[in-house]
Amino acid sequence: MSQTGPTGTHYSDYLQLGKLLDSQHPRSGKDGEAAHDEMLFIIIHQAYELWFKQILHEVGSVLPLFKKKTLDEARMGFIVARLERVVEIQRILVDQLTILETMTPLDFLDFRDYLVPASGFQSVQFRLIEIALGLRQRDRTPLSADAYRTRLTDAEREKLEAVEAQPSLVELVEDWLERIPFLDVDGYDFWGDYQGAVAQMLENDAEIIRNNSMLSESEKTDQLGQLADTEKGFQVLIDRDEHNRLREDGERRLSHRATSAALFIELYRDYPALQLPHKLLRLLVDVDELFTAWRQRHVIMVHRMIGSKIGTGGSAGHRYLRSAAQKHRVFTDLFDLPTFLIKRSALPTLPDEVSNKLRFNYEDAR
Ligand code: HEM
Repeated sequence: MSQTGPTGTHYSDYLQLGKLLDSQHPRSGKDGEAAHDEMLFIIIHQAYELWFKQILHEVGSVLPLFKKKTLDEARMGFIVARLERVVEIQRILVDQLTILETMTPLDFLDFRDYLVPASGFQSVQFRLIEIALGLRQRDRTPLSADAYRTRLTDAEREKLEAVEAQPSLVELVEDWLERIPFLDVDGYDFWGDYQGAVAQMLENDAEIIRNNSMLSESEKTDQLGQLADTEKGFQVLIDRDEHNRLREDGERRLSHRATSAALFIELYRDYPALQLPHKLLRLLVDVDELFTAWRQRHVIMVHRMIGSKIGTGGSAGHRYLRSAAQKHRVFTDLFDLPTFLIKRSALPTLPDEVSNKLRFNYEDAR
């Protein structure tokens, strides 16, 4: 019986299993006693690197689609489908760490010395993902500053710099958001209407506090003070200059126009034309959240594995990783958006010219 398929392809050849399965070479056992768990340590890292490769493949296919001047609905479908895949891979990445936790800290010590100075710090693919999503050098925690770069080869550094010179996902999403036309078409002024609705909402809340007979006068004053702070928060969003100032300080990433478009999409996402854009924004939040979840999960594992020792890569160990988990975020502007949502029943009605377009109702719009 033939061992190959109709085209002569064989399972092992197609998957290059010869190379793949001959790529695990534990260091222990070469000069001392073999450490049983080193095989698991190698395989789990290799599995991660394969998934990183797939994530780069997906993200790499999405970036050029965003670069086009107009993004049609068909392309949006591809982008959403590919990011959904990335998110599913990320879930696996978080879960996989439990397999490694079947190794005890003492078992790890049997081979840890062989690793120095190698470390996940040197994972080029991990850095490529960070950079492709939009993590900039200036956003990195000072606890690593430039440290990870000094541990890479010249060729690896050049590769990262080449990707850094390209627009990242967050920048391309920003450009796309800025191009969304519905905020100020046909005399419609989103900000004007939104501001009016916010003022009305805050006035209603103030009225409820003033008329609440369960509250003492000092409690009312307290709550009205909190409401005034909420109002200031809205003003920061609405005020373009204030937004730009926050952006210069690194507290905001997206431009005022892009943030406005994202808010518009979230507020009016029930319209058919905004459902895919809304899904896209949700997926970007998922991607960011799941990378943070991985970082947090990894740092907990690292803590239980090496306590407060420094890492094999020479960083401040779990202290560095904790700080990276907090700081190495890309889509935080989208996380902040819910602060500025107002309930559906209080949303200003869109003028027909805009709502017809968002319903794909071009008949009535003529
Ligand atoms: C016994 C298990 C592990 C330990 C003790 C450990 C420890 C550490 C430490 C201490 C660091 C900080 C850099 C350094 O000084 O070395 C680090 C970074 C890193 N590790 Fe692990 N790690 C483990 C498993 C893994 C696994 C399975 C992966 C999967 C790829 C991984 C990926 C990474 C990455 C990507 C970084 C860089 C993170 C960043 O800079 O934000 N590690 N690891």
